[in-house]
Amino acid sequence: MLANMGVRFAGTGSYLPPRVVTNDDLSRTLDTTDEWIRTRTGIASRHMALPGQAASDLALEAARKALDAAGLKPADLELIICATMTPDHVIPSTAALIQRGLGAERAGGFDLSSACSGFVLSVSAAQGLLRTGAAKNALVVGAEVMTTFSDPTDRATYVIFADGAGAAVLVQDPEARSDILAMRQGLHGDVDVLSVPAGGSRLKTTAETVAAGDHFIKMKGRETFKFAVKTMSGLIADTCADAGVTPADLKVIVPHQVNQRILEAACERANIDIGRCVINIDRVGNTSAASVPIALDEGVRSGRIERGDLVLLVAFGAGLSWASALIRW
Ligand code: UT7
Repeated sequence: MLANMGVRFAGTGSYLPPRVVTNDDLSRTLDTTDEWIRTRTGIASRHMALPGQAASDLALEAARKALDAAGLKPADLELIICATMTPDHVIPSTAALIQRGLGAERAGGFDLSSACSGFVLSVSAAQGLLRTGAAKNALVVGAEVMTTFSDPTDRATYVIFADGAGAAVLVQDPEARSDILAMRQGLHGDVDVLSVPAGGSRLKTTAETVAAGDHFIKMKGRETFKFAVKTMSGLIADTCADAGVTPADLKVIVPHQVNQRILEAACERANIDIGRCVINIDRVGNTSAASVPIALDEGVRSGRIERGDLVLLVAFGAGLSWASALIRW
């Protein structure tokens, strides 16, 4: 264990596929309206992957930008963690495909599956490995092609989920000026609220499961809504308390882009001005594990997040799962 060593975010990057789909586009094939989607979710448009674009293709675009921003070459990389619930394949890992695509010859790595909480948990895993000295740097990516698992005939889910990737390079910081000050994670095991029923070892893919649409996301929207509001507001308070700071000390919160109404309700409960959250759900939608790193990259590149700031990442989703990371940037 390397005592007194910090972990610094050295660079971030993100990628949204060029195909933009508006609410009006969706209302041509679904029984929905632009007004319903905007008022119930805050989403106006989202990006969808082009035919043939898989999670690793999106991940590679975001990863190259993060490496550039960090001033690192692929050959310098020692660890790659990819958070995804929509991997290119069941095997090999998407991390392996990123490693090959980058030509990161020295890197090891793995995928981490925890739906929308996956990126924040991957940051947590990476910082642990950096602190033990197992790696000096890590590329952490969240990449999703959610439209693979969204039923285009289900208006309750197809209007929410979207595609994209975000990445961050974490490095050891011997002077510990930057660091991850506190982290939380949790699970409330549940398969009914949010799941893809078929395609795993519980329910193999058959002609019948495909005909029933069991290879698509099934979601109880209301339950997810209530869980998300309660979890996000509690996580903000608890993670701050762990680090001995108050929510008022936070410069920026980067939440999972779940639903504008959820973010508003959670901030109100936590007594936080929603203006401190980086929010891009209106034009990005819900990209699951990619959502936090895409918003984080936008916060960094816009200058909202600067060295020394207290930044809170907070995410929650299927599992049910949740995770947070409080960072001195
Ligand atoms: O990352 C975690 C992933 N999960 C989420 O992000 C989901 C969190 N939950 C939500 O965002 C909201 O619950 C939804 C946006 C999914 C739904 O909003 P809601 O205000 O909770 O609506 P609801 O499910 O209670 O449905 C209200 C009505 C229903 O019609 P009836 O039964 O009242 O006639 C739905 O069938 O709205 C209907 N509805 C729609 N109408 C037009 C559901 N989806 C749509 C739609 N367009 N796209």
